[in-house]
Amino acid sequence: MSHWAGLLSTAAKVNLLVLVVSVVFSWSSLSDRVPEFALTKIEENDIKDDSRKELITEDDADPEDLEVFYPTHQWQTIRPGQAVPAGSHVRLNLQTGDREAKLPDSENGRNLIAGLRVDVDSNLFTSQELKKALAKMKESEKAERKAHEEEVRKKFRPIEQLKEEFEKLNVKMETDYEIMVKLISKFNSSASTLDEKVAALYDLEYYVHQVDNAKDFLSIGGLQLVIDGLNSTEAVLKEHAAFVLGAALSSNPKIQIEAIEGGALQKLLVILATEQPLAVKKKALFALSSMLRHFPYAQQQFLKLGGLQVLRSLFRQKGMETLHVRVVTLLYDLIVEKVRSQEGGDGTRPEKIQQYRQVKLVPAVVEQDWCVVVSNLLAMPEHDTREKVLKTVGVLMAFCKERFRGDPTLSTTLSLLRSEYEELAAEEQREGDKDGYFKELLGSVNTIIQELR
Ligand SMILES: *[C@@H]1O[C@H](CO)[C@@H](O)[C@H](O)[C@H]1NC(C)=O
Ligand SMILES: *[C@@H]1O[C@H](CO)[C@@H](O)[C@H](O)[C@H]1NC(C)=O
Repeated sequence: MSHWAGLLSTAAKVNLLVLVVSVVFSWSSLSDRVPEFALTKIEENDIKDDSRKELITEDDADPEDLEVFYPTHQWQTIRPGQAVPAGSHVRLNLQTGDREAKLPDSENGRNLIAGLRVDVDSNLFTSQELKKALAKMKESEKAERKAHEEEVRKKFRPIEQLKEEFEKLNVKMETDYEIMVKLISKFNSSASTLDEKVAALYDLEYYVHQVDNAKDFLSIGGLQLVIDGLNSTEAVLKEHAAFVLGAALSSNPKIQIEAIEGGALQKLLVILATEQPLAVKKKALFALSSMLRHFPYAQQQFLKLGGLQVLRSLFRQKGMETLHVRVVTLLYDLIVEKVRSQEGGDGTRPEKIQQYRQVKLVPAVVEQDWCVVVSNLLAMPEHDTREKVLKTVGVLMAFCKERFRGDPTLSTTLSLLRSEYEELAAEEQREGDKDGYFKELLGSVNTIIQELR
């Protein structure tokens, strides 16, 4: 944790009790009917197309695992991974390093709108304790990084504000650049232990999300180091290298180009094609998705290298079930991207349209029989999974119609889904929700049934 060492230059002891942070999540876009559902959409949203929802997550947690924190009037500890509703008051308890939240007290008049505030108290804390608490806060912030990219970006604000607060307290923080240089050399040093290397990658992942930091990361030489880390003999290094890479690639065309030239695509495919722990594959799939999105050149190379077969093989391996819906979501995104580029409606430049033309995705999808793989996933119990799959079945309809028609399991599944959603939609309506979530799902099911008549 060397980079926290520079955090406090003069202050040996700082009088701080709690750092109170207002939650940066916005629930405005979330469905009223099932907020839990909406929150489970862990999304990496692309800047260029923020209407598109993507399931691929940078985090270990499966969508099903994400919990919602229900605030009361008492302070309660927020567990890692819990999503906290907007308007809650969240504080960092410097004594325990835990984050706690509760419903706001209107009577105490605290002004929390701006985000962060520091309450000064007579309790004394050493700089060591403060650093520890900050590191912990960073960790739990990581767990929160499960919302929109928009929110991911907002999430950096408290740190920015923290810096300001520290500047006011006459303490100096290192720049992100300086911190990244240190982390990269820690990762690269043969004197570092495996744990230290993993910790360095873990911290780097936090920085490279920001576009400017990712560019510095490239110029410092960090990108090539993490690409080389993808074929490390240590699974845990592979996993964290892929995590950093995926974060740096997200919506960053410059990094996408450099990474493909640095051989990242082949290495990611090797990870996905060979026997590896699930955690490693998960992160590799995340990095692969970040690499391919909005980058038709990488999509072409991916197809040429047999990448689609590699993803297909994940459906034959045991224990990889949690990856299936992510793969299908990626496929959906790639198909939609290609279709949109052909329509030319999203301002795609002519060279790019030309590149998309060379992405021979559909023939490969049909040839490898993705039609059946996708429709089989409709049997999954989670509504949000089914929602993704229904959408994918919808876009595949143009090429898979005959295959779908000849699949008796699919027609049984669709009938079952229809009755289930008819019931849920009726219940939803009785509760006064006319355009509810289940009604929408029922609509998708009915459309598919009709198209298959
Ligand atoms: C990593 O370490 C090697 C060997 O010490 C050195 O040559 C290289 O420049 C270092 N790379 C970076 C990016 O620091
Ligand atoms: C990883 O791959 C690179 C280039 O393909 C190679 O030079 C390096 O030795 C490999 N590292 C390991 C640990 O296999």
